[in-house]
Amino acid sequence: MEQIPILEMRDIVKTFNGVQVLKKVNFEVRKGEVHALMGENGAGKSTLIKILTGIYPKDNGEIYINGERKEINSRSDAAKCGISVIYQELSLISTLTVAQNVMLGKEDSKVGFLKRRKMKEEVQKLIDLYGFHIDADAPVETLTIAQRQTVEILKALSEESQVIIMDEPTASLSARESESLFEIIQQLREKGVSIIYISHRLEEVYRLSDRLTVLRDGTKEAVLTKEQINPTEVIRLMIGKELSEATASNQLCHSKQETVLKVKELTRKGVFQNVSFELHRGEILGFGGLMGAGRTEVMRCIFGADTYDSGEIYFKGKKVLGKVSDMIGLGFGLVPEDRRNQGFIPLLAIEKNVALTNYDSLAQKGFVKGRDEKQLGIQMVESLDIRPGNPQIPVGNLSGGNQQKAVLGKWLSRDLKVLIVDEPTAGIDIGAKDEVYKLLDNLAKQGTSVIVVSSDLQELLRVSHRILVMRKGTIFKEFASGRITQEDILMAASGIEEGGK
Ligand SMILES: Nc1ncnc2c1ncn2[C@@H]1O[C@H](COP(=O)(O)OP(=O)(O)OP(=O)(O)O)[C@@H](O)[C@H]1O
Ligand SMILES: [Mg+2]
Repeated sequence: MEQIPILEMRDIVKTFNGVQVLKKVNFEVRKGEVHALMGENGAGKSTLIKILTGIYPKDNGEIYINGERKEINSRSDAAKCGISVIYQELSLISTLTVAQNVMLGKEDSKVGFLKRRKMKEEVQKLIDLYGFHIDADAPVETLTIAQRQTVEILKALSEESQVIIMDEPTASLSARESESLFEIIQQLREKGVSIIYISHRLEEVYRLSDRLTVLRDGTKEAVLTKEQINPTEVIRLMIGKELSEATASNQLCHSKQETVLKVKELTRKGVFQNVSFELHRGEILGFGGLMGAGRTEVMRCIFGADTYDSGEIYFKGKKVLGKVSDMIGLGFGLVPEDRRNQGFIPLLAIEKNVALTNYDSLAQKGFVKGRDEKQLGIQMVESLDIRPGNPQIPVGNLSGGNQQKAVLGKWLSRDLKVLIVDEPTAGIDIGAKDEVYKLLDNLAKQGTSVIVVSSDLQELLRVSHRILVMRKGTIFKEFASGRITQEDILMAASGIEEGGK
């Protein structure tokens, strides 16, 4: 007997500025299943979800919950239908505490209003139940991205939803944190909660999902069951062609070119200790490690965004005293991991956003290298395959992954000596990732030294010439020769020393 789906979207149509981005899409979710929604950047995943949750009105189509037709015109309509969502762009209020954020909007509904203590207790219960490592009293602004994500998940859990939508939940989580999320998902599913799971990380999608719907250019391409899920086939359905994915690591090597950056016994108390390494001209140096190993913090200190307690930093043999403005003057660039909040100005066009970081070079001596704002915009849209491919579109109207590309584009188009990128491809689809890697390769060939911090092991292996693995605030291991595998990095990141390499 065919059970009635808990959720059904039928013939959904959505048009933005005359362009149909959803073309009669059908989407169906059963009780207690993990249903993955897949597709390239801009395929329409987030738009479908925003229609389901009342953020955008649909032009056409119907939504059924448990077989009953519903109109969902607001977030609260969606909540009444038992649908909650964890957005790609986190929506927390940073000055409130974890508990306050989780209970936000629920104060009135239960027992008049909830006392602070009661509120905290309730949130604490949830935290304990799922074994999260988070302090209910901590103001959200003091939390890492991973922890903020946890708060979002707590929020959804506290609403006792029937359908929880996760739009790239692991984008900023470490391997270990992702594992605990997967356990939560498993628990939810066992309790009959349905999960709509959106992610560009294919391995986790294959592992988690009971079924999978593929969208391409706003059209539903296929619905596959777990048995039918085959990686090559899914990729082909997503991008409409085959992709030869390089899984092998590069040949690692120790660069013989001049040392550009030398970091000596850098220490920031309680965060990282005695970090020493050298970066050569034209080298791509990968930084692996678990989230919390201190990689981002080291990079911020080098860039002058944070202070350190002891140690020295040399650029081309000269000691630098790291203020951000000085570092930028020396030709340093840092692309932060938290790009969604600090990376771009949503209302400005792609070309304006790209130009923003480049005004110094655009303004010098007329137009440096003959590039003007427009050209630079066109160049970025083309080389990163930003879609839609029109540099005049406001960045805020792009899909999440395409926004990421635009932010990266700002930095990749600069004439830098040292470029530090933190999680360069979080949220970017598998086809476009390759474009980013090619850009980084090219920058290195032209003499820029690049540091890539990444939790994506495949990515680290693909781009790095040499790899340092950090663990608990120190550099635990260096890989500078031969070929290595994901296991080698994982073992080092977890503190397992193996001889031979
Ligand atoms: N507010 C908006 N105004 C105009 N166009 C929009 C708006 N939101 C989305 N679009 C367009 O709709 C299309 C689908 O975008 P959507 O965000 O749904 O993609 P996605 O599948 O979620 O991609 P990603 O993997 O990058 O997050 C894109 O072409 C995007 O530019
Ligand atoms: Mg999206």
